[in-house]
Amino acid sequence: MAGFGTRFLPATKAMPKELLPIIDKPLIQFAAEEAVAAGIDTLIFVTGRNKRAIEDHFDNNQELEMALRAKGKDEQAIMVKNILPAGVECIFVRQPEQLGLGHAIACAERAVGNDSSAVLLADDFLTYEGAGVTADLARSFKASGKTQLSVMEVNGPEISKYGVVVPNRKLGSVAGHLEKPKAEDAPSNLASIGRYALTPDIFDILRNQPIGVEGEIQLADAINIQAANNAVEAVTLNGRRFDCGSVQGYLDPIMHVAERRKR
Ligand code: G1P
Repeated sequence: MAGFGTRFLPATKAMPKELLPIIDKPLIQFAAEEAVAAGIDTLIFVTGRNKRAIEDHFDNNQELEMALRAKGKDEQAIMVKNILPAGVECIFVRQPEQLGLGHAIACAERAVGNDSSAVLLADDFLTYEGAGVTADLARSFKASGKTQLSVMEVNGPEISKYGVVVPNRKLGSVAGHLEKPKAEDAPSNLASIGRYALTPDIFDILRNQPIGVEGEIQLADAINIQAANNAVEAVTLNGRRFDCGSVQGYLDPIMHVAERRKR
């Protein structure tokens, strides 16, 4: 499942930020491929006004495919056709108001049903080793049945931009989760990044949850309730994260991917 946070990139109405490309592939396509690599076969996109282009991206485009083939551009035609592998279903739900990440996830409740789910914030661009960050989360989820947070170390004042883990004594176990604390109040240097694996009770919690910081329904608050029941674990990111929510944050992964391709 892809839920969208509330960051802003220099995108226009016609071009949602999630469709901005890292060289030749939109951010949302990277996230979709990461989910599929984790064995997920149903992708739920929580979109909103001015984000219809995301739906179009995942639709097939026979006219373009045929036009490319007619010009002998078979490689590009295959790229257009194979946006997602066969058997992967896309569901689009709308978030009528931007009331935060917790609210965006709650919008997907009916589509998810009683299943567990993974949440990928497409504007957190991740490079990784192995099958991917979501695959790592899915593996830990299967082992313990607990909600999983993907985390990385952030030292210094930047920590206040993140949800921060209150660590438990046991390694990997999470005692709580504070959304964007002041740097001096941060309970650890473990910041949660935009990938989560959630147990289905998250929806019961979100449904009854009061508005949190920044006037939004915060996923972090719901996770905090699970953590109080010893039901949350953290998995350390095995890769690099780029926050595409700023101009520099968007340019860095482009350079990084270009370098990797050169090698
Ligand atoms: C969201 C989450 C926050 C997390 C961050 C990671 O915040 O609410 O807990 O640390 O994504 O990128 P946002 O940056 O969307 O405000």
